[in-house]
Amino acid sequence: MKKVVLCILEVTMILFLLSACGENAPQSGMESKKVATAAESPPVRATGMSKPSITEIEVPEDFVLIKGGTFNMGSPDSEAWRGDDETEHLVTVSDFYMSIYEVTQKEYQEVMGNNPSTLSGENLPVENITWFDAIAYCNARSEAEGGLTPVYTIDGQNVSWNRDANGYRLPTEAEWEYACRAGTTTPFNTETSISAEEANYYGHYPYEIENNYFSQANLETKPGRYRQTTIGVGSFQPNGWGLYDMHGNVREWCWDYYGAYNTESQTDPTGPTSGSLRVNRGGGWNDFAKHLRSAYRSSTPANNSSYNLGLRLVLGKTTAAGKVTDTAHAAKKESSGGKILIAYFSWSGNTRGIARKIQKTTGADIFEIELVTPYSSDYNTVLDQAQRDQHKQARPKLANHVKEMGQYDTIMLGYPNWWASIPMPVGSFLEEYDFVGKTILPFCSHGGGRFGQSLTAIAKLVPDATLGDGLSVHYSGGADLPDEISAWLHRNGIMKQ
Ligand SMILES: Cc1cc2nc3c(=O)[nH]c(=O)nc-3n(C[C@H](O)[C@H](O)[C@H](O)COP(=O)(O)O)c2cc1C
Repeated sequence: MKKVVLCILEVTMILFLLSACGENAPQSGMESKKVATAAESPPVRATGMSKPSITEIEVPEDFVLIKGGTFNMGSPDSEAWRGDDETEHLVTVSDFYMSIYEVTQKEYQEVMGNNPSTLSGENLPVENITWFDAIAYCNARSEAEGGLTPVYTIDGQNVSWNRDANGYRLPTEAEWEYACRAGTTTPFNTETSISAEEANYYGHYPYEIENNYFSQANLETKPGRYRQTTIGVGSFQPNGWGLYDMHGNVREWCWDYYGAYNTESQTDPTGPTSGSLRVNRGGGWNDFAKHLRSAYRSSTPANNSSYNLGLRLVLGKTTAAGKVTDTAHAAKKESSGGKILIAYFSWSGNTRGIARKIQKTTGADIFEIELVTPYSSDYNTVLDQAQRDQHKQARPKLANHVKEMGQYDTIMLGYPNWWASIPMPVGSFLEEYDFVGKTILPFCSHGGGRFGQSLTAIAKLVPDATLGDGLSVHYSGGADLPDEISAWLHRNGIMKQ
């Protein structure tokens, strides 16, 4: 890998150059790393009298300098399909370097000696990695390349980030969004819509397709190609700051625990200090456009992995020094052998069939989630009802209730993928009971979108439950379904009861 060695700058020189830049110095944005100007160095306090330490940072050629600045993080109320967790607030980020590409399988394999990806190809982004795999990769690559100090200290489930270290790291959620936007304030960095020729996603479902499904004349971007796989990194035009695939291909792990935003203005925020879910951003190859939005926040248990979840690297110290120490709430655990409940919602019967097969294998109790006012039995009508319910995050009233939920420690939760997420009755079910300390094993019947963002939706609703590995089944599944169910049960430590 070709390197560029950045200049070693002394404070006096920096101050001279800063004054030379004057008022015309850019406030934010991307600049070529090859021009080693003062603007590339972290801000320097003019009052600093001590002799500066000499720092040498090696920056790979495929990284760009993202110049710090202030931006509105989150989305405006007017943005279609925004989430309640995207409250706008002012954030200032310092300069950092970011990889222009998602980390490839070749890069991962070279450093880690293995390739966990489910979709194989050297130039495809690495995926199927947990958050812990991602930070281990950052540290291992810092060590492998020499001259860089590993950033993370890993103590079981607890990880601290040494902000004085200069090695590779994950972006913070704020850095990621700032870099993705590249100065834009629109839902995507491609402005108000995004096409399948601009990003790799579930192109049949462009932005705002949900409420324009039957009459597409008003759609800014018409349905396009669904590639059903990751593609080589850098296949589309980069954003305004030279970064490729910030929308789509694979979602990208960030440092932060998922949590409500602190809506005060902040500088270099690092997220909550404890939690169980880590943020990932940008959407992946099987996501709808609404889940590619610059402000959309996906969250996944740190121990879980997925065929559409990878990483992008950042290099460079933040101006804030010291350690960010955090505490994991819930570690992934195997079923403790307590009672299991299979709870499912089904509209046309596919999920019901899968639930019954699981019941046959496990002998667990089974419960169908039913509504006081069922959805229409007409397909076109239910499509419309479902998207409206999702848009307003409705909680339809349930007609039946689990007796003594307390007796179960594992809930196998089944549902059809509806508009790339959970049907809203599943939201009603999850809000009705206390899932603290319980394990949820999701199984999802789908028509091509696999889980969509349903796992994030579940994780956000019950952050204190342990979310195990999920099972996604195409419609009612094929001849292999019993084997797939057995493998899924084994992965989660569930044996026949
Ligand atoms: C309202 C509605 C929305 C749907 N949205 C999606 C989707 O976003 N992605 C997908 O892959 N399949 C989607 N489907 C297809 C269903 O997930 C699929 O047919 C599933 O097998 C239905 O399960 P069920 O028979 O248990 O209801 C949708 C179906 C309906 C009725």
